[in-house]
Amino acid sequence: MTAPSYQDDATSLPIRPRRNRRTPVIRALVRETDLSAHRLIYPLFVHAGNANEPIDAMPGQMRWTQEGLLGEMQRAAELGIDAFALFPAVNGELKTPQATEAWNPKGLIPQTLRAIKRHNADWLIITDVALDPYNSEGHDGIVSPDGRVLNDESVQGLCKQALCQAEAGSDVVAPSDMMDGRVGAIRAALDANGHEEVAILSYAAKYASALYGPFRAALDSAPRRNSDKPIPADKKTYQMDPANVREAIREITLDELEGADIVMVKPAGAYLDVIRAVRESTTLPVAAYQVSGEYAMIKTACERGCLDEQAVVLETLTGIRRAGADMIFTYFAPRAAQWLNGR
Ligand code: PBG
Repeated sequence: MTAPSYQDDATSLPIRPRRNRRTPVIRALVRETDLSAHRLIYPLFVHAGNANEPIDAMPGQMRWTQEGLLGEMQRAAELGIDAFALFPAVNGELKTPQATEAWNPKGLIPQTLRAIKRHNADWLIITDVALDPYNSEGHDGIVSPDGRVLNDESVQGLCKQALCQAEAGSDVVAPSDMMDGRVGAIRAALDANGHEEVAILSYAAKYASALYGPFRAALDSAPRRNSDKPIPADKKTYQMDPANVREAIREITLDELEGADIVMVKPAGAYLDVIRAVRESTTLPVAAYQVSGEYAMIKTACERGCLDEQAVVLETLTGIRRAGADMIFTYFAPRAAQWLNGR
């Protein structure tokens, strides 16, 4: 094809892409990517306190009481969101180096799950499987006396945690810990206990990102010092190097073989090429997480009047869909649903 050249006569330019952008109706007809509320998952924080607490690092997000949480879920549901991911802000005194609170059947998450299921059994509830909210040392696994995050010992705890959540009514357990072999081990533990219907959404390609800061502030879950042992200051021995993409495919492939039902790439915005590569290498549904730091960047820029929130949120979410994500975890979920449904 030779490129048409523009001369003074309009008839010399027969090919004009702008014709397909002329009106809203034709733009909708030729649109290649759709974004709708049923693709969105709303992550929520719950705590045992008796008041809803605003999270400073995430303007507009709260640590909800159980009652506040149900109210927020109801509000989101009325806007078209019916999938939720739950994260616990655990009281400091319940956190220990072995993180045993993670599988306490009377713990915050199991109790909250039961209350949600009594309120509305049709909502899809995704629960996080990782030890960091319960670990006084702030790691997703257990730290050895010489300062290593232990793999196989941690996986045993994760299996107990997943089972405890399944027993309390979780629809989908979502290991976000990046230990090796945990998807297979969790699948086996669930199946051996009659929970073959509980799905596994694996945070398969989760990067050691600087964008989780606001989330760790919300849960007070960042790696911390302990005078008795050398605690690693970051999560780079288990979360992935941001420079890698082939490694993401390796992780996805393993999790698929181990029985994952859905695989996730996290964060989303700086990893769109990874979402695309993952989309092309698996037939499984692909999720992406627009994380707390992505939320905070957009939110604070909008609060300062630098950006238009509606336009930027819908553009970033569309970009994540276009890259290949079937579903998106986003703190903007109810707001985006409202805009998408013209309310
Ligand atoms: C912990 C976990 C993290 C997030 C989800 N699960 C933080 C981390 O790995 O340190 C981050 C979510 C966000 O930033 O919005 N297992």
